Order: sequence, then C-alpha cells, then structure tokens
Amino acid sequence: MKILIVGGAGYIGSHVAREFLDQGHDVLVFDNLSTGGRENLFPEAQFIHGDILDYPGVLAAMRGVDAVVHLAAAKAVGESMAKPEKYSRNNLVGTINLVNAACEAGVGRFIFSSSAAVYGEPAYLPADEAHPTNPENYYGFTKLEIERILAWYDKLKPFRFAALRYFNAAGYDAKGRIKGLERNPANLIPLVMEVACGMRSELQIFGDDWDTPDGSCVRDYVHVSDLARGHVAALDWISREDRSLVVNLGSEAGISVKQIVDCARKVTGRKIPAKVAGRRAGDPARLVASSALARKELGWTARESDVENLVRSSWDAYVRAGLAGNK
Ligand code: WQD
Repeated sequence: MKILIVGGAGYIGSHVAREFLDQGHDVLVFDNLSTGGRENLFPEAQFIHGDILDYPGVLAAMRGVDAVVHLAAAKAVGESMAKPEKYSRNNLVGTINLVNAACEAGVGRFIFSSSAAVYGEPAYLPADEAHPTNPENYYGFTKLEIERILAWYDKLKPFRFAALRYFNAAGYDAKGRIKGLERNPANLIPLVMEVACGMRSELQIFGDDWDTPDGSCVRDYVHVSDLARGHVAALDWISREDRSLVVNLGSEAGISVKQIVDCARKVTGRKIPAKVAGRRAGDPARLVASSALARKELGWTARESDVENLVRSSWDAYVRAGLAGNK
C-alpha cells in the first residue's frame, strides 16, 4: 500500500515510517519540520515539506494514497494549557483538514495518534478503552475531540479509522536508524538522558510521597518501536475488518520515576543527580494501560518496552548523537 505519514519526520513518526518501509509499503512523508528533522527522513521514502493547515497542499499529497497515518500534532501538555490556540489550530483544525482531504480524495483509511491523556485522572486501573474520558488538559481534549469527529465520519462516510491511545512513548530504534533526537524534550526519559550527558545539572523528581510502592509516580512506558508495529497492525485490521477501532497501546507494566533513574544510572554509568521536588499539578499517582484489546484484536503486545531496553536504546541514541561526551 502507499501510506501517507503525516508527521513522519518526528520522533514517533520516523519510527512508524521505518516500520511501514520494513513491511514493504511505499511511504510518503508529509511534515512541516517544525519539530521533526530532515535527518529522520529515509531515502526510500518520498517527502513533501508541507503543512496540514494548507488544505490544497494536503489534498494534493493524498493523490494515489491508500491510507493516512497522522502523527503531526503539538504534544506538550503544559503548553496546551498556556496556549490553547496553538493546539486548536494544529491538533483540531489541522486534523480536520486532513480528514476532509482524505474524504475528498477517496482515501478511506486513517490511523490517528491519540493518547492516554483522553482518560484524565484514573477512576480505576489498569485503564481499558471503556474507562471514562475526562481529559484534564487541553492537549488531551484535542485528542478526544478528534476521536469523536472520526467516529462521526465512520458513520457518515466510507471512512474507517484506528485511534491509537499511546501511553508514555519512549526509547529509540534498537538498530540506530533514527538519527534525530527530540529537541527540547519535556518527558522523563529524555530529561534523564540530558542529565546523564551533563546537558542539565540535575533531575527533579516530582514528588516522592505518592501512594505508590516507592513514593514516586508510576507510568506505563511503551517503546516507540512497539508503537510503530501497532500502527501497521491497526491498518491491517481496519482494512480486513472494514470497521473502526479505538485501542490502547501500552506495556501494562507500571514503572516508577525512581526505577527509571536507577536503571539509567546503571546503564549509563553516570551519577545522574536527582532531587525530590514538589508534586507537579495534574499528575496522577499511577497510570497503567490494559492492552487486552490490542492483544485480542491486533495480536499486539509490547515486546521492547522493558525498562532496561527503554533506557538503553535512549542512551545509545544520545551516545550516537555525540552528546554523551566522555565523562
Ligand atoms: C512521566 C513521569 C512525572 C519529568 C505525558 C502526557 C501524556 C503523554 C505522555 C502525549 C511523571 C515524572 C517528569 C521530570 C519527573 N503525552 N517526571 N521529573 O506526564 O506521564 O505523560 O506524556 O500523549 O498525555 O501527560 O509524562 O514524561 O512528563 O512524566 O519526576 O522532570 O515522570 O511526574 O510521573 P506524563 P512525563
């Protein structure tokens, strides 16, 4: 199939593009390179430097395409509360452009990057897809709104989608084929890596008095290469079933902040200074996925998401990028 990967030069998108290429698909990457980088483009894939807000440009990119995989979004939770307009424009208007262009071009298969942020404060764990959706930040709201629009298009148009609710994406391609690192990372594991590299002086642990085994927050970290396989499996599923799907992609393992830091000290051999700071607003103590539906419908499980692998593949990427120095 010919797959249009929107946001395919980004952190998750480049892993997804790699996986579709590995599975023998033709890949066309569409990206405005605002956060993605040219170093993440593969020579076997075509590339269009374009923006999802440009409807004619998006429509032109759909020509001859069999399916759209959409990962182009702003994803910083804190920023979404300070600058909702940016998230409305990129995540809502931009995605609606893509969906409308797909319909106009007769492309009836759409894979959407959704998020565990649609759930909000967990009412129970592990969170399955039936868990109530009450996003606590504007970012999560944009993801949920798009899921609802997609569900309407499924009813009204010859249009099938899979919304993939990622938990905490982390790690890098084990074979080192992704060259670009995320710029200005906001998530725990890349921040730990930057401390290990000496790019930051210390890590702040946001609270050690949570109701968790070691007092630090517990999350479900899922390797981007596992996520990438989930996209291919989801496209196969909606093509075969001619139905749409909303599904969690998580490792089902709850890992604490302190476990990540301890593992990173072991893997990197660096001290990684960390100090306990106050709790961060909006953080739940624990968030862990049930991926039973992905297992049942997609035959998908996280294979590369053990904590050591997440940390090691990240560290290897920082070493390859020349950021680890020789301390
Ligand atoms: C992980 C854990 C922090 C930084 C976010 C979004 C979610 C999804 C993934 C996109 C938490 C702790 C972090 C630090 C710390 N995004 N932490 N010190 O908040 O679980 O999830 O990213 O879809 O929607 O909310 O990820 O990486 O920010 O934090 O102690 O300097 O690390 O408190 O427990 P989060 P994160």
